[in-house]
Amino acid sequence: MFNLVSVALLLVLITASYLFRPKKNSPPSPVGFPVIGHLHLLKEPVHRCLRDLSHHLGPVFSLKLGSCRAVVVTSASAAEEFLTHQNDIVFANRPISTLGVYAGYNNTMVSAAPYGELWRNLRRICTLEIFSAARLRESFEIRRDEVRALLQTIHAATTKSGGDKEHFVRLELRPLLSGLTFNIVMRMVAGKRYYGEENEEAKEVRELISEAFVLGGFTYVGDFLPVLKLFDFDGYVKRAKRLGSKLDKFLQKLVDEHRRNRGKTEFENTMITHLLTLQESQHDYYTDEIIKGLVQVMLVAGTDTTAVTLEWAMANLLNHPEVLVKAKTELNAVVSREGRLMEESDIATCKYLSNVISETLRLYPAAPLLVPHASSDNCKVSGYDIPRGTWLFINAWAIQRDPKVWDEPEIFEPERFDSEESKTHHHGKFIPFGMGRRACPGMGLAHLVLGLALGSLIQCFDWERDDDVAVDMSEGKGLTMPKAVRLVAKCKSSPILDQVAF
Ligand code: HEM
Repeated sequence: MFNLVSVALLLVLITASYLFRPKKNSPPSPVGFPVIGHLHLLKEPVHRCLRDLSHHLGPVFSLKLGSCRAVVVTSASAAEEFLTHQNDIVFANRPISTLGVYAGYNNTMVSAAPYGELWRNLRRICTLEIFSAARLRESFEIRRDEVRALLQTIHAATTKSGGDKEHFVRLELRPLLSGLTFNIVMRMVAGKRYYGEENEEAKEVRELISEAFVLGGFTYVGDFLPVLKLFDFDGYVKRAKRLGSKLDKFLQKLVDEHRRNRGKTEFENTMITHLLTLQESQHDYYTDEIIKGLVQVMLVAGTDTTAVTLEWAMANLLNHPEVLVKAKTELNAVVSREGRLMEESDIATCKYLSNVISETLRLYPAAPLLVPHASSDNCKVSGYDIPRGTWLFINAWAIQRDPKVWDEPEIFEPERFDSEESKTHHHGKFIPFGMGRRACPGMGLAHLVLGLALGSLIQCFDWERDDDVAVDMSEGKGLTMPKAVRLVAKCKSSPILDQVAF
C-alpha cells in the first residue's frame, strides 16, 4: 500500500516537473527531414544560401545538419553577442572534422584544437614566436624579396614581346599570387621556396597543399552523417588518411633537416629553428608534433586566404578605374616621387591603399562563414537557449553586406573607411578576421603582405580589363571563397621600373 502511494507520488512529481519545466526558447528553424535534417537546404555558395534563409527566419536561426545542431548568425549585434564577453569562452571550441582527425594531428592544431590548455599554449607560441612585431620585423626581407620577384616576373612578361613597352600583355594573376603567398610563408617557416622552383620536392609539396584544399574542412558530408565514414563510399576517409601520412612525412623531414643543420645560414631565423631552440629547454611544450602542426597551419591558413584577397582586390580595381587612379596617385606621391619601390613601412602612410584592402575584405572575406565554432556548455544568447555542442556559423559575408549597418552595401567604395571611427568601432559589423578569442592570429602578417603586394602591383604597372568587359565577380566553390572565374588582366610596366634596380 505504502509502496503504491510512493510510486504514484513519484509519478505525479515527475509529470509536474515535466509540465512546469521552464520552456526552452530555441532559435527559429525551417521544417526538416528525419536523418538529414536541413542538409538538403545547403546550396553553393553556402554563405549566400544561409543569408537567403535568414530573410525568412531572422538574424539568428538554427539548423539540423545531419546529426549536428547548428546556429547561424547574420547580424552584427548578434555576432558581437556570441563572440564577446562570457559567450566568447563558451563558443571558443571548434567542431571535430574528419580531415582534422586524419590530416591534422587529430584536431590538435591551433586552428582546430578545443578551447583549453593545449590551445592556449599554441596561441601563446603563435603570439610570441611567430606573429610578434619583432618576429615580423625580422622577416621583412623575405616578403620584400618575394614581392620583387613577382614584379620581375610580370615586368619580364610585359617586355618579352620585342621590348615593346607601349603594349599591354594578358596575364592570369591567380597562379602568380598563390606562388607569392606560398613562398613567403614557406620561407618564413622553413627558409624554402617551392613556387618558381622545378624540383621533385617542390612539385610534391604543391600537390599536397592543393589536395588539402580540395578535401577542405567541413565540406565532407560524413562530418554531419558519421555513419557514412564507416562505409567510405566516396573514398574521402582513405584520401584524408593518405594526405595525413604524406604531409606528416614531409613536415618531419623539414624538422629533421633543421635539426641536422642548426647554425647554417639558410636555416637561421626560420620559425622551425626558433621552435627547435625552445624545444631544447621545454621539451614537453615544444614536441615535434606541435612544431609540425604549427607549420601545417601556417601553410594552410596563411597562403590561399591572402592570395584570393589579392585577386579580389585587383578585380575590384579593374572594375573601378577611378579607384585604381586614386590609389596610384597616392603611391606616386608617397613612394614613386622618391624614385624607389614601395616598402612595408609605406603601408601606414598609404591610407587609401589600406581602405581599398578593407573594402575588398568587407565585400569578399576569404572566410565568409569564419571557421565554425562550437559551444562547450549550455548558454543563453540573444534570448535563445543554445545547448552545449552546438556549431556556430557567423555569416561574416552577409553581415558585411547588411543594409541595416552599411550604407549602399553592395557598392565598392573604399572611402567608407576614411573616418577614424570606421577603423576602430566595428561592433561586429566588419569581421573578416573573426572576433574574440579565436580571431585570426595572422591578421598583422596578412595586412603586411596585402599592403606590400597590392601597393607594388599598382605602383609598378598600368592595369586594364581584358576585352574591356566588366570583370565577373561571382564567387566560386572552395574553402576560401575564390573567384569563380580566374582573373585575367592586361598590364604594362610603369616608368618607375626604368628608374629602379630590382
Ligand atoms: C583563423 C581570416 C590570413 C592563420 C582565421 C579565421 C578567419 C581568418 C575568419 C577564423 C576566426 C574565427 O573563427 O572567429 C583570415 C583572412 C586572412 C588570413 C581573411 C588573409 C586575408 C592568415 C595568415 C595566417 C593565418 C596569413 C598565418 C600565417 C590563422 C590561424 C587561425 C586563423 C592559425 C586559427 C585561429 C584559432 O583557431 O585559434 N583566419 N586569415 N591567417 N587564421 Fe587567418
